[in-house]
Amino acid sequence: MGIENQSAEKLSSSPPDTPKLIHGGNYIKEGRDSNKSTWLLFSPATPDEAGSLARFLSIFSSHGVNLSHIESRHSESKSSEINLGDGSSARRPGYEFMVECEHGTGDFGGALEELKKNVGYLNIISRNYKDNRSAVPWFPRRIRDLDRFANQILSYGSELDSDHPGFTDPVYRDRRKYFADIAYNYKHGQPLPHVDYTKDEITTWGTVFRKLVELYPTHACKEHNHVFPLLIENCGYREDNIPQLEDVSNFLKDCTGFTLRPVAGLLSSRDFLAGLAFRVFHSTQYIRHHSKPLYTPEPDVCHELLGHAPLFADPAFAQFSQEIGLASLGAPDDYVEKLATCFWFTVEFGLCRQEGKLKAFGAGLLSSFGELQYCLSDEPELREFEPETTGVTKYPITEYQPVYFVANSFEDAKEKMIKFAKTIPRDFSVRYNPYTQSIDILDSSRQMRDLLRGVHQDMELLLNAMDKL
Ligand SMILES: [Fe+2]
Repeated sequence: MGIENQSAEKLSSSPPDTPKLIHGGNYIKEGRDSNKSTWLLFSPATPDEAGSLARFLSIFSSHGVNLSHIESRHSESKSSEINLGDGSSARRPGYEFMVECEHGTGDFGGALEELKKNVGYLNIISRNYKDNRSAVPWFPRRIRDLDRFANQILSYGSELDSDHPGFTDPVYRDRRKYFADIAYNYKHGQPLPHVDYTKDEITTWGTVFRKLVELYPTHACKEHNHVFPLLIENCGYREDNIPQLEDVSNFLKDCTGFTLRPVAGLLSSRDFLAGLAFRVFHSTQYIRHHSKPLYTPEPDVCHELLGHAPLFADPAFAQFSQEIGLASLGAPDDYVEKLATCFWFTVEFGLCRQEGKLKAFGAGLLSSFGELQYCLSDEPELREFEPETTGVTKYPITEYQPVYFVANSFEDAKEKMIKFAKTIPRDFSVRYNPYTQSIDILDSSRQMRDLLRGVHQDMELLLNAMDKL
């Protein structure tokens, strides 16, 4: 999968007669119900305030605002010191509350004003934040929150344009609907759906697989060439077999913690990038139409498994991808667009320099027999990857890229992304907590002290290990 402006993959040497513009811009198109509510996250002014939830709820009821979701949870940022009576003290956990307010019910503005006077902190998290400039765009805090937007897709995977190779094939269209439906019904934590691919589908995969493996030794980056044999060994990558997402996802999880999640259609850039913050990659599971095995107008299982999957098994690349995702959380639209463009020119179409030679690491290249050769020829223009400039570069989506950006290494690209993320206007920093698979918002001195303690423990471990060398 890619972001909404996913390029047509140019596996054929000649693009289709009628270029298809998918979605040129990076904008948020909301799902059917997403504009109907605003989420508020707040804490009592004093952490151990008894009965505070009832008091807060009365604010909403007195203003006639309906709440469709109420949640209270432990908050490290609001814990308090308590005296145990024997001269010692302990920390009592604080609490924070999250409520979903339904739009169009009561006086929401009045409730908000009253709430502000009574809370320790308040974050307005809204899908519809354009109506409220002080709001932070909604973003998932826990990995299961990805279920909330997985079905807010820009087009359902079974809807084909009239120039799609499978448009007039009822069998293919049924098949696409089948794949879209199983992705639509998927929920976090379930096993990834097993698919019995048809003979036609396996033949199509085989054609693509055979052509691309010819090029990988000379054209792909060393990380791709390192991982690819492991995928053959562990995940059933063969000319006569389409690997199952579940097997590939489990393999990636063992390597870097990345997992795959099926998706029913194109996601907005914001939602797609948010998945990366959790090391979750939204992946299609269907395959292109058999009439044109070397061309597809949208990402398919060949693009995901041959282009993307091998790189997500590389620790430095996984970290780089996650940094883009973390930077996108709660970022304004224009910055999400820049991040999506950086994603385009790296994860999708990136080149790197290895032992003095140019190699491809972008999935759009590694899944395209035609463009994989073209990108390393003398024809395209090459520029150094710099997020500030790369992020504002325009690109075509229906033809080979005229410009490619070159990264010195994944580590170097990651450092540049972290530096760029600091320029994003956000009032908070975020960190992924792998133990709870959630996003920590670092906006209190206590959280920073905890983080520092963790760094200190790591330093101790490092010194101890060095002593033993
Ligand atoms: Fe992609």
